[in-house]
Amino acid sequence: MNPLNHVAIIMDGNGRWGLKYKSSRNEGHKAGLNTVEKIIKESIKQKINFLTLYAFSTENWNRPKKEIDYLFNLLEYFLSQKIDDLHKKDIKLNIIGIKNFSKKLNKLLNFSEQKTSKNTTLQINLALNYGSKFEILDSVKKMKRNNDKINEKNLSKYLQTKNIPDPEILIRTGNTKRLSNFLLWQLAYSEIFFEKKLWPDFNEKDYIRIIKKFKKIKRNFGNI
Ligand code: IPE
Ligand code: IPE
Ligand code: MG
Repeated sequence: MNPLNHVAIIMDGNGRWGLKYKSSRNEGHKAGLNTVEKIIKESIKQKINFLTLYAFSTENWNRPKKEIDYLFNLLEYFLSQKIDDLHKKDIKLNIIGIKNFSKKLNKLLNFSEQKTSKNTTLQINLALNYGSKFEILDSVKKMKRNNDKINEKNLSKYLQTKNIPDPEILIRTGNTKRLSNFLLWQLAYSEIFFEKKLWPDFNEKDYIRIIKKFKKIKRNFGNI
């Protein structure tokens, strides 16, 4: 059985779900939060140590302002309402991506990270304004600036996922098969599961099915 430490998820399909059931993309984002809570709970049950959730990509700034504003309001609401609960569950919140949001949101993100920084049961890496190409380029620049040898170890050291083992599993919901600039370096050897269900319809059972399937996969790492 393969050990499982780290699951990464591209939570895709909120907009389509919202349009289909509520005639509003934003309602889909709201519904997606329930799935986030379910998957966090199940991750703890499954004794997973790291859960990385793609919430907003550097490319998502291309969306209409109304949707972007809604998303960040939702995030503010979620954090202000749930951070105590996350803390009680011994969850550590870590933001990956560039924190250049409103002063209020930046403050809330920093506060939430600090408050939960010593927790150890589950680390949630929330990818916000995250882009993998930017992250890799930034790391290369840092190696150069510090006169470090250019090698894998040093490159990993300057990624935002430093000290976090690479994900064994990537899940993308929403019936779309692409990486959308997510963890391109870190996913080099991950097992990838593309799910047809839209994120608000994804549930614990789907998650457990994937985990069970993963545990039985023969992982070769180039060997035979
Ligand atoms: C993913 O769902 C959530 C974010 C990108 C914030 P989408 O909003 O991309 O949903 P679809 O793919 O348009 O249905
Ligand atoms: C990827 O989903 C980003 C998140 C889930 C946050 P998108 O829906 O933005 O990806 P593309 O643009 O369809 O590739
Ligand atoms: Mg999408």
